[in-house]
Amino acid sequence: MSTDTITLPPAADMHVHLRDGPMMETVVPLIRHGGVNTVFVMPNLLPPITSVSSALAYHQKLTSLSPTTTFLMSLYLSPSITPSVIAEATATGIIQGVKSYPKGLTTNSDAGVVSYEAYYPVFSAMEEHGLVLNLHGESPSSPTTTILNAEETFLPTLVDLHHRFPKLRIVLEHCTTAAAVEVVKSLGPTVAATITAHHLYLTIDHWSDSPHCYCKPVAKLPSDRAALIAAATSGDPKFFLGTDSAPHPKHAKQGAEKVAAGVFTQPYAVQLVAELFDKEGKLDKLQGFVCDYGRVFYQTKDRGLEKESGEKIVLRRGGAKVLREIINGDLVVVPFRAGEETWGLEWV
Ligand code: NCD
Ligand code: DOR
Ligand code: ZN
Ligand code: ZN
Repeated sequence: MSTDTITLPPAADMHVHLRDGPMMETVVPLIRHGGVNTVFVMPNLLPPITSVSSALAYHQKLTSLSPTTTFLMSLYLSPSITPSVIAEATATGIIQGVKSYPKGLTTNSDAGVVSYEAYYPVFSAMEEHGLVLNLHGESPSSPTTTILNAEETFLPTLVDLHHRFPKLRIVLEHCTTAAAVEVVKSLGPTVAATITAHHLYLTIDHWSDSPHCYCKPVAKLPSDRAALIAAATSGDPKFFLGTDSAPHPKHAKQGAEKVAAGVFTQPYAVQLVAELFDKEGKLDKLQGFVCDYGRVFYQTKDRGLEKESGEKIVLRRGGAKVLREIINGDLVVVPFRAGEETWGLEWV
């Protein structure tokens, strides 16, 4: 398919970090700029979202900043999440998932999971109530595990959880390796994976050069990137967009002693993916990946989760430039591919 403009329904971005305070106020209005009207919101605030009441309060703040966006909320897996909290969360109709972070692995993950076994009763309740388990699929560093093989060494845990809880819907978040793609394909229909926009572009060399390309899990080899592109453009509904857009202030990325992990793509979420699919000659597969498959997996229609506006997005090949910086008072955030050309997008 070769065409200069494409009209699509608004996209769904099934993995976003929207933060709190001034950063939240800065990035939430940019969701729409990226062509998205439904997002799955990660709970790794400080302190993390570990109760139904804090998830609902966060939902309220987000909704007041962008009333036309549907915010699907999540809880942060930690000891305060019990089977009765799962029942209570499900009853809200607003909380759709529980994100599990391995302890100490990435931004605000000190409260993360050490052993999955302790949570089997919680997973069983989630399976019964239909909440999604969102896995940050990396093993913690050890004498034999580094950020390069942390995802691959986690995959047996994914397989084991799926076999123990076959009806539990599981998303392997932000998958980055050919090995992960193969494992997700091999498991039943309750297992899916998100793929970010930036991992379709990046390999190790990029983040070794620039802090704005550094995130967890890190981008890996060219063969891994090729496997992600193949999965995203294949039309397989197990793979859908979750940008993992993770804004940090410029000073936490550039010139910081310890560089914060996270790539900020929210304002150009769909534009970046369209550009990539176009280069691959796969624009006919764009709608499935950015609009449809995530909604199907989260059952947003059946569960009546989304606001319907009838609006569409129109994508135009080239002609737009990624802003160099996004500035809101004292806060400066540098987007992925700052200053470079990408696709344009407008709402109609
Ligand atoms: C922005 C856009 O359209 O993406 N323009 C640009 O060239 N960077 C303008 C905007 O942020 O609205
Ligand atoms: O790079 C990342 N940044 N990976 C994560 O899992 C978390 C995220 C963040 O919150 O900054
Ligand atoms: Zn994660
Ligand atoms: Zn994330």
